Amino acid sequence: MEKKKRILTGDRPTGKLHIGHLLGTLQNRAKLQDEYEEFIIVANVQALADNFDNPGKVRENIEEVLCDYYASGLDFGKATVFLQSEVPEIHEIFIYLSNFATVQQIQHNPTIKTEMAQKGMEGSTPLGFFLYPIHQTADILCVNADLVPVGVDQAPMVEDTRELTRKFNKTYGVNILNEPQALFGVEVNVPGIDGGEKMGKSLNNAIYLSDTEEELRKKIFKVYTDPNRIHATDPGKIEGNIAFVYHDLFNDNKEEVEEMKDRYREGKIKDVEVKEKLFEVMNERLTPIRERRLEAEGMKGELLAKALEGSNKVSGIARGIADQMKEAMLLKFK
Ligand code: TRP
Repeated sequence: MEKKKRILTGDRPTGKLHIGHLLGTLQNRAKLQDEYEEFIIVANVQALADNFDNPGKVRENIEEVLCDYYASGLDFGKATVFLQSEVPEIHEIFIYLSNFATVQQIQHNPTIKTEMAQKGMEGSTPLGFFLYPIHQTADILCVNADLVPVGVDQAPMVEDTRELTRKFNKTYGVNILNEPQALFGVEVNVPGIDGGEKMGKSLNNAIYLSDTEEELRKKIFKVYTDPNRIHATDPGKIEGNIAFVYHDLFNDNKEEVEEMKDRYREGKIKDVEVKEKLFEVMNERLTPIRERRLEAEGMKGELLAKALEGSNKVSGIARGIADQMKEAMLLKFK
């Protein structure tokens, strides 16, 4: 039997997961778990990088994220879910790799730039935070992944991983580290209900997998549309109109969406009609996920136990890779 290729991806446990995660990466994970050997990291050490003063938040959200995984269709018997803190080899690989990254490379990483600005860190940047792209590279390399399903915001991280991989192999004339590919779900960042460019836990503009039907309805009716359109008979704008952005993402009946857009531009449809339809299609998609999530709530202990078991397995694999790296760097004595 041919060896399955490996996937590695994951999340920081800093809050519940939302529809941006669903379309960006969770759906791909569920879809690919048979075809690939799949590893999912709960990056609790990375999460501390910008929450070091609030470890309780990170600890609490581990189970929430595990429930979201289960809800999105991940099979804990197929995929190996693990905790970053339980695989110390990741930190070891990280320090070996850090010789190959430069301060300038990280400074130019667009995601780091945006996050530093968002978190007001430009004047004083914790090193732990600044270094996280390299630590994340170690996450990916600790199982030598072939494919990394992520949202587009993580593309620069995978680019950094590819570059560090090439540098390491070239420097020591070896072929130990695998150069992984990114795999994107939807090719855009899913915008927030407020029209903000990105949906984010801290931005208070997210639709969560755990939202009840009532919460979903409320959020959909608050979605940012065309602020200049006062009456249903006013011609409306589609660009930047989140109700239509979500229709494009969730409504499979493209003909219906195009027809609504035409009517909207001509001032022949009410906002409520567009939103009512949107609620219908999104609720249909999210209901089975919500139901599975409720089921997961009663399985938190079991899911965490699975993740700890997974951590042992990954630790074994990572030890093998770290040892090969040591050998290449003439650091191996036994
Ligand atoms: N930085 C990622 C995020 O915020 C989470 C993450 C940690 C990750 N380690 C990873 C993603 C390894 C992919 C691969 O979403």
